[in-house]
Amino acid sequence: MSFDRNLKIAPSILSADFANFGAEIEAVEAQGADWIHVDVMDGHFVPNLTFGPPLVKAIRKHIKTVMDVHLMIAPVDPYIDAFADAGADVLTAHLEAGPHIHRTLQAIRGAGCKAGLALNPGTPIDAVDHLLDMVDLICVMTVNPGFGGQKFIHSQIAKVEKLRAMIGDRPIHIEIDGGITPETAPLMRAAGADVLVAGSAVFKGGSVADPAPYGANIRAIRTSCDTLV
Ligand code: DX5
Ligand code: ZN
Repeated sequence: MSFDRNLKIAPSILSADFANFGAEIEAVEAQGADWIHVDVMDGHFVPNLTFGPPLVKAIRKHIKTVMDVHLMIAPVDPYIDAFADAGADVLTAHLEAGPHIHRTLQAIRGAGCKAGLALNPGTPIDAVDHLLDMVDLICVMTVNPGFGGQKFIHSQIAKVEKLRAMIGDRPIHIEIDGGITPETAPLMRAAGADVLVAGSAVFKGGSVADPAPYGANIRAIRTSCDTLV
């Protein structure tokens, strides 16, 4: 995985057909997805449950791009090796998920994955100050994690601008997760983000049998950012 700041659209399979993940992933990749975002929820750290390492491992072989695994679980550390073995390229843990995020990030890199750090909307950006040399990606949540299809929280724009300045020349991706649409995407791109996660805005209107809307939806997000001056 090489580093760049080009725009990357990462469809979240939380909005895909759960009975057909393999075909859904192949369809969105064929329609222009840059990464595939995989939302793991434990019904404890967030009020929703999705899936665990065996499913992540099963879908890995359908992903040709980057498997971006977002862990919304607490604790994280006991599961890092399992998700690394499942083939995660990026493994992202929440700063709020436990008392030892520094140790967690070390363990993620130690397991051979790129280390991601996610921040809930209420978490101040200063919290990452002493972690910048340990992370490959910072995920700014623009909804409260747990569900797709929620409304974008605009107060996070200033947070991303501040984060972009803090990062400077460090090779750290800024990822935005939640409520991304062609209306909100350019706000975050302008603020300094390079990875935009989008679930409902990518999968709406399409299906494996009729994947063209996925492509149109991805292009609409991409084009909205192209028009930035
Ligand atoms: C929310 C998840 C997101 C979610 C995004 O907890 O982390 O990845 O699927 O969905 P949309 O794009 O519909 O807000
Ligand atoms: Zn996510």
